[in-house]
Amino acid sequence: MKIELAESLGFCFGVKRAIKIAEEAKDAHTFGPLIHNSLENERLRKDFNVGLVENIEDLKSNSKVIIRTHGIEKKNLVRLHEKDMEVIDATCPYVTKPQQIVEDMSKEGYDIVIFGDEEHPEIKGVKSYVSGNVYVALTPSKLDNIALKDRVAIIAQTTRREDEYEKIVSYLMRRIREVRVFNTICNATFENQDAADELSMRADVMVVIGGKNSSNTKQLFRICEQNCNSSYLIESAAELDPNWFENKSLCGISAGASTPAWVISQIIEKIENLKPKK
Ligand code: F3S
Repeated sequence: MKIELAESLGFCFGVKRAIKIAEEAKDAHTFGPLIHNSLENERLRKDFNVGLVENIEDLKSNSKVIIRTHGIEKKNLVRLHEKDMEVIDATCPYVTKPQQIVEDMSKEGYDIVIFGDEEHPEIKGVKSYVSGNVYVALTPSKLDNIALKDRVAIIAQTTRREDEYEKIVSYLMRRIREVRVFNTICNATFENQDAADELSMRADVMVVIGGKNSSNTKQLFRICEQNCNSSYLIESAAELDPNWFENKSLCGISAGASTPAWVISQIIEKIENLKPKK
């Protein structure tokens, strides 16, 4: 069986940047997981003493806190400053951007629509920068019964698909007199998605590597599943099942934007060793 890696896979710019910031900071805590990959977060804890705290009140005043790639809610940022923490911002610049846009547009009197998942930390953070009305929707129908102003600004979660964003944008254009559209979808996500799409059309089995709570990894998996029936989403080598590879000739590998290269290598090595002996 041949193993082929998607032309673009794994760490994106924002995650690479956040890890570098955390490694340089050392002896610090992240408020919420730095990235959506527990194995990498664990490596940072062991090798750089960068721990994880879920509750601000568990942080000691005057200590170092790192803001995760997906950003945090504004009220939490204020609280960190109140506690005199040394705040080290590892929010991805592509996430800071929509935070600024919604803050400015709501100040200008626009209703804000966010195309994204209400429960996702990135969206909770972005939403918190809105001072007026804000609505989070994944489909146009979610907005049907909402009396929107005639001035609306819309942004998208960085990991969403552009075609789905277009649907909600066209819906607003038909309904609202003035719509300000900001394309806040991240290119890194597309690059990994396009490469996974291309490879999964040719592969007999696809292994998508990434955190189970990583939105962009799940998107990759969905794309692969559409093209290749034998697609599997795993976080570590321990989850591999030799039966997946029986009688397969091409195994494709894709990985989410928060999957470290060392995890990808471990998995490839294990798949190679699983190969049936000739
Ligand atoms: Fe940033 Fe895009 Fe990565 S938003 S964290 S560069 S997937």
